[in-house]
Amino acid sequence: MSMSIVTSKEMFEKAYNGGYAIGAFNVNNMEIIQGITEAAKECQAPVILQVSSGARKYANRTYLVKLVEAAVIETGLPICLHLDHGDTFELCKSCVDDGFTSVMIDASSKSFEDNIALTRQVVEYAHDHGVVVEAELGTLAGVEDDVNVSAEDSSYTRPEDVQEFVERTGCDSLAIAIGTSHGAYKFKPGTKPQLRFDILEEVSKRLPGFPIVLHGSSSVPQEYVQMINEHGGNMPGAIGVPEDQLREASRLAVCKINIDSDLRLAMTGTIRKFFDENPGEFDPRKYLGPARENIKQLVKHKIINVLGCDGKA
Ligand code: G3H
Ligand code: 13P
Ligand code: ZN
Repeated sequence: MSMSIVTSKEMFEKAYNGGYAIGAFNVNNMEIIQGITEAAKECQAPVILQVSSGARKYANRTYLVKLVEAAVIETGLPICLHLDHGDTFELCKSCVDDGFTSVMIDASSKSFEDNIALTRQVVEYAHDHGVVVEAELGTLAGVEDDVNVSAEDSSYTRPEDVQEFVERTGCDSLAIAIGTSHGAYKFKPGTKPQLRFDILEEVSKRLPGFPIVLHGSSSVPQEYVQMINEHGGNMPGAIGVPEDQLREASRLAVCKINIDSDLRLAMTGTIRKFFDENPGEFDPRKYLGPARENIKQLVKHKIINVLGCDGKA
């Protein structure tokens, strides 16, 4: 039987009904892809590997697709290849043409009508090619690629908008804003992070059975923040989303949870510590290997304790 990259359609149906979520992890190079997919294999978990426009520029359009195909061969798992935060029709089309099985069109900074029009255009092209589409309503605080959305500008998703948006666009999943944000500085130090479960509930009441996506869902493990700070880094006040709240969201309508920053912290912490302890070492495998291993352990932890998707492949 030949294995290939799959869409998230079946993954989300099972996740919705099973009260768990699929992890969507950002990938930029081979070691990150290996760390994530080795963890998924050991846990027999379905997984989404997502590529941002920045990642696609960094690695070029061929390498990440081929590395993900390699991961499918190595693991035999259902793996979905997703474009994260596509901002134009052309970028989404290009990824569909390259073999992505899922694309996000993020027109959340546009007006409601312009968001609908652009999302609809992407849906028409993607669906014609068997590819699913994630859209976004509401704005997250923090850094999305190069665009800086200040905390004051962040606006929660309006539940009264979601039904019309999904009906008119035909999108397959919807990212909503309920208090998460991108990056490692999500909440003010000293305050108690609390996601807006009331909004999530209102949204899911209006969209029964429809998969909801949470961006900005890193939890910023203090173990790695400390490791970075103890080995020459400087990241005071880095705070993420509590893992128990993500676990709760994944029991509800949330079927996809996006995690990037946590992997960056694990990789950077591991490498900083390595160089601090091994100043004479210059073989990249000596530090990329442990970084890959720590990404793997972190993803296993997410799969088992946050997403609940272990054994669901
Ligand atoms: O939401 C953004 C993701 O963390 C990807 O970040 O655009 O720097 O690749 P990036
Ligand atoms: P984090 O920065 O919280 O990891 O969010 C990643 C994300 O939402 C990618 O789209
Ligand atoms: Zn995001």
